[in-house]
Amino acid sequence: MKRQEQLYEGKAKIIYATEDPDLVIQYFKDDATAFDGIKKGTIVDKGVINNHVSTKIFQYLEEKGVATHYVERLNDREMLVKSLEIIPVEVVFRNVAAGSLCKRLGIEEAKLLDPPIQEFFLKDDPLHDPMINESHIKTFEWATEKEVAFLKTSGSKVNQLLTEFFKERGIRLVDFKLEYGRHKGEVLLGDEISPDGCRLWDWETGEKMDKDRFRFNLGSVEEKYQEVYNLVCGEG
Ligand code: TMP
Ligand code: ASP
Repeated sequence: MKRQEQLYEGKAKIIYATEDPDLVIQYFKDDATAFDGIKKGTIVDKGVINNHVSTKIFQYLEEKGVATHYVERLNDREMLVKSLEIIPVEVVFRNVAAGSLCKRLGIEEAKLLDPPIQEFFLKDDPLHDPMINESHIKTFEWATEKEVAFLKTSGSKVNQLLTEFFKERGIRLVDFKLEYGRHKGEVLLGDEISPDGCRLWDWETGEKMDKDRFRFNLGSVEEKYQEVYNLVCGEG
């Protein structure tokens, strides 16, 4: 499947058309942004790592019965996916306190969250992805009530599956963001699942292995992405 015209360029990926209107190619860039595009940089080979890591995770989720947009990985930086009408709602799950939760509510970082916390954010950079609730989603028609119910149950299942997946590889899944979209009357899990959109801590040492290293200039950014790649995509 060859790529045709560019349909959209996001912060970390470019979407290209293919000869099949139901399929698009997502091309993974090395560009990294944080704080809604305010901080910009490059993480060398991030695109390759995130494409491979996402592939492994989408295949695992599909095996476990989660419908995703994944079709196949074409090469190091390109993934063939089903075209989606993106639902503009980011679905976040948190198992351990970190990031904006700590800032917003004064919660101590690393506190275990039981049961996990589920939040919705509006996918809108100029507005800095504000937090929203089901009432906003319903009134502004960002998704139907049925879709919202699906986002919650599907997201919760993905959280359980990914928590187990990463734990088996010595990684604690602290929190993550999911995006969903509509394809031929079905809601599918879209975007990517990688250290860009998940907080991943070493299970033993608590060391951060995700985009927080870039966000907060913690150093060893490439090394930690590579470590996640090795743990997720390595043999065994
Ligand atoms: P937060 O603590 O900044 O709200 O982020 C929660 C999780 O969601 C974290 O794993 C990073 C991810 N995330 C994104 O991938 N993109 C975003 O735009 C935001 C706000 C969060
Ligand atoms: N994804 C958002 C950005 O690129 C927020 C973040 O990851 O910090 O700015």
